[in-house]
Amino acid sequence: MGHWTLDDIPWDQFDRSKLDPEMVKIAKAACMVEHHSADYGKYLCGVFHDDPGFCADALAWAEEEVQHGAVLRRYAEFADPSFDFDATFARFVAGHPIDVEASESIRGSRCAEMVARCIVEVGTSTYYSALRDAAEEPVFKAICKRIAGDEFRHYKLFYTTMKRYRDIEGVGRLARAKVALGRLFESTDDELSYAYHSGVGEPDPYVRRRATLAYAARTLPLYRRDHVQRGVGMTLKAVGIKPQGRLGRIIAALTWLALRLYVRRLAWAKETAGTQQSPLRRAPA
Ligand SMILES: [Fe+2]
Ligand SMILES: [Fe+2]
Repeated sequence: MGHWTLDDIPWDQFDRSKLDPEMVKIAKAACMVEHHSADYGKYLCGVFHDDPGFCADALAWAEEEVQHGAVLRRYAEFADPSFDFDATFARFVAGHPIDVEASESIRGSRCAEMVARCIVEVGTSTYYSALRDAAEEPVFKAICKRIAGDEFRHYKLFYTTMKRYRDIEGVGRLARAKVALGRLFESTDDELSYAYHSGVGEPDPYVRRRATLAYAARTLPLYRRDHVQRGVGMTLKAVGIKPQGRLGRIIAALTWLALRLYVRRLAWAKETAGTQQSPLRRAPA
């Protein structure tokens, strides 16, 4: 791995007139989550302790993720010289520790662990593709393009490994679908919204629902139909459903519809905040 370095980014093309403060906030949140990946690499090596080939790939993967953190950190500092990464990251890690001593997957099997990692890479590849296409500031666009390319390769690594362990462990479609859905809707996973809370410098206490909605309102409108279709296709592939089949096309269409409705609901809630009771406010915490 390791196809590019920070020196490959055209920093001299930075254009402050095209700087979007919202994108800077997103860069601050993303740099912390990416930087935290070194611990995930150790965790994966613990889970796959007798598979040195994959362990080496997992450590190389983690290095690339940390590089994503480094490039986003430099961008955030470039755009906002007052950004104190060390203090912000320390606050973030304290709220999100990872068990690096684990010797078994928290997902129940190695195949399931790989399905979960595929879902994470689906999320990141789609996310950076959406940011790349939405960004106007040329340096941020170039960074997101590089990172998105890496995230697609990461998916391929985990997908290939998942297939190997699927055959060894005999994990069926239904079990994989459960893991994928669980990872997609994991109720305890608020890493990104917590990173957003820490990165933006919101005062404590951390209110999970408020931070999650704030983060969703900033990022979800950036997704286009092609981003969503590709992400759904990759997810279905990991589960064992053909993306181009009838079921695959129906799921992709429904996902896109659900996303647009949710984005509209978020926008409506923002507009009406303070004037009337929104459905988001009425929803249970
Ligand atoms: Fe990454
Ligand atoms: Fe990745």
